[in-house]
Amino acid sequence: MSQDVTKAGVIGWPIDHSLSPRIFDYWLKNYGIKGLYKAYAVNDISLSKVLSSMREKGLTGLNITVPYKQTVIKYVDQLSSCARKIGAVNTVTLQENGLLFGDNTDGFGFIENIKQNYNGINAFTGVSIVIGAGGAARSIVASLVSVGVKKIYIINRTRGNAEKLAKDIGGPISVMDWSERHVSLADATFVVNTTTLGMNGKPPLDLRLDLLPKNALVNDIVYAPIETRLLKNSKIRGNPTVDGIGMLLHQARPGFTTWFGEEPIVTEDLRNHVLAKKGD
Ligand code: ATR
Repeated sequence: MSQDVTKAGVIGWPIDHSLSPRIFDYWLKNYGIKGLYKAYAVNDISLSKVLSSMREKGLTGLNITVPYKQTVIKYVDQLSSCARKIGAVNTVTLQENGLLFGDNTDGFGFIENIKQNYNGINAFTGVSIVIGAGGAARSIVASLVSVGVKKIYIINRTRGNAEKLAKDIGGPISVMDWSERHVSLADATFVVNTTTLGMNGKPPLDLRLDLLPKNALVNDIVYAPIETRLLKNSKIRGNPTVDGIGMLLHQARPGFTTWFGEEPIVTEDLRNHVLAKKGD
């Protein structure tokens, strides 16, 4: 393989189910770019070695997925302010000066997904309810703060995790008890499930929607299945909904732009292409 072909990839453990190669290969083909993007299964012993040998391996960039988004922070030289705030990195770039730059584009992907798929009155002008306080919730809450949401309530099974998240991120955030999740919806303009509940093989999210205003937007970051019970029930009562696959597609954009020099677009065709792989 010639040296002038840009190489990038995604690392995680396990990595077989990563949809990132599917996204990047689609864009590379579509834009006629001679690049390579591969998935690498990396165990925790070889993690630091993989990052420090990016230049040797000819890798320009790496996406980082589960379980290394936090761990990888100690192996990069510079962090974006967003990655520092969230405490996690999903995109590492080997810069021309030889330094590794860590960024987090999950929150960007989250906001862009909503913007692309929801044309109603801005969901982000009122009260946002965030269910869950894990890694995904950290980037989502930070992105909601950055787009100027007036009030965010975090509701998590383990209240302490929600309190820590609120403190770390800062902003107009309050924490409510898990038992208050049903009544919390009464004033919401936006609700997002950031937990793993509703994913194939997991129990559904138990959330009664009776009090939710009919114009509130509902989003689930779970995309397998593409229509979770939360989204289905929201649609049935007439609420606008956005599913979760777009967050994955949009979070890949900044890495592609930096590494391959083209600003890629998320289209219906890309979405179908990636979703077709999901059942493999
Ligand atoms: P991710 O990085 O994908 O966000 P995570 O960090 O493991 O994954 O977070 C999982 C989230 O789902 C957490 O908010 C977790 O709640 P806890 O902080 O109480 O663990 C939530 N979660 C997972 N299983 C759950 C369940 N059965 N009921 C309620 N919340 C659950």
